[in-house]
Amino acid sequence: MKFSKNVSCFRPSPIRAMMKAVANPNVISFAGGMPGEELFPVQDLKEMIAEMPRKEMDTALQYGATDGLPVFNKFLTEKMQERGFDMTKNRIIVTTGSTQVMNIVSKLFLDNGDTMLTEDPVFCGSAGAFCSYGANIVGVKLDEEGIIISELEKALEKNPKFIYTTPTFHNPAGLAMSRKRREQFLEVMAKHPDVIILEDDAYGQLYYDESVKNDIVPMKTYAKNEQQIIYCSSFSKIFSPGMRIGWMIIPNEMYEYAEIAKQSMDACTPCLSQMLAYEFWKTGRMDRYIASLRAEYKRRRDAMVECINKYFPAGTSFVTPQGGFFLWAKLPDAIDIDKLFENCSERGVVFVKGIAFSATYENNQHVRMSFSNTNPETIERGIKMMAEEMKKLM
Ligand SMILES: Cc1ncc(COP(=O)(O)O)c(C=O)c1O
Repeated sequence: MKFSKNVSCFRPSPIRAMMKAVANPNVISFAGGMPGEELFPVQDLKEMIAEMPRKEMDTALQYGATDGLPVFNKFLTEKMQERGFDMTKNRIIVTTGSTQVMNIVSKLFLDNGDTMLTEDPVFCGSAGAFCSYGANIVGVKLDEEGIIISELEKALEKNPKFIYTTPTFHNPAGLAMSRKRREQFLEVMAKHPDVIILEDDAYGQLYYDESVKNDIVPMKTYAKNEQQIIYCSSFSKIFSPGMRIGWMIIPNEMYEYAEIAKQSMDACTPCLSQMLAYEFWKTGRMDRYIASLRAEYKRRRDAMVECINKYFPAGTSFVTPQGGFFLWAKLPDAIDIDKLFENCSERGVVFVKGIAFSATYENNQHVRMSFSNTNPETIERGIKMMAEEMKKLM
């Protein structure tokens, strides 16, 4: 078979590979970064579809503009202006999930073998997208406040095309980069104005502690050189991932290339999804829904933190996530993570091994545990089972 050179760079997602196991209702899954499905706004969706006027339904079922349905794009533009983005210098493209943003930005900036930076660990879905364009990923390590600045400075010497960062409720690390660290990050990046920053804010609305709100303001809203930043976010965690809608805020001067790049990937983002998101948000239901998600996910986060503290062996460490979906735990060195994963899978509880998120596929003692799609009682059962298996291996 005469596959392209890029095929050899493909990096399969270890999480997608686990989807089958996770679909088994008897398995307790801390694996996927999935919203709680029993929380989906099903009744609202049924009502919105039932009440949608015929003319709007026609639009919803038709092909649409590359940058999104005009009413929705305009609405999002106003909302983003309210959130502090300068929408005179930037434009919005509604995308088919935010995964598409990673593909658009890669297509715009990467030639095969080009270096780009990501945080290390990094969300494997995004890393997979960059790799599929032949990216040479260089990881920048994190500490409890986010990207380590001295590491960033070193990595920038490698002449990267862009840097991908998830400063708020990082996947998998669960961290929120502090405001001070963000400012230091921007200061360093300002010395490299030709290195684009891709700021991924998939979880920014899902904060569980008010105290973190000042830290998590998107950098693009206050960076002196905000034109260096492409921002993206998603409706996947605050509405529905099956709808496949996200958006990017991109400087005017890059807009045209991005639009053409998207055109070559799909004709348009599903218009029905956009119409429903627009209706849901416009009528105030989205804000109420997100508030209810914050309360429920906080309960699940608290349950997971409490159970880990209670049941996991001494030597386990983690930073309590103040938002998002993930708890990133470092397990005692004595535990063989591969063996633990095998034994836990057999018992019917799954998580993701840290190696899946290593920028360079290096083995490590971490596990990513998602608390979003499991209720507190089941979280306790799953954590107890994991703890029992851990103790057997020590
Ligand atoms: C940090 C981050 N970015 C992007 C995505 C992709 O989301 P979607 O393509 O569903 O918008 C995810 C999904 O888990 C994520 O965790």
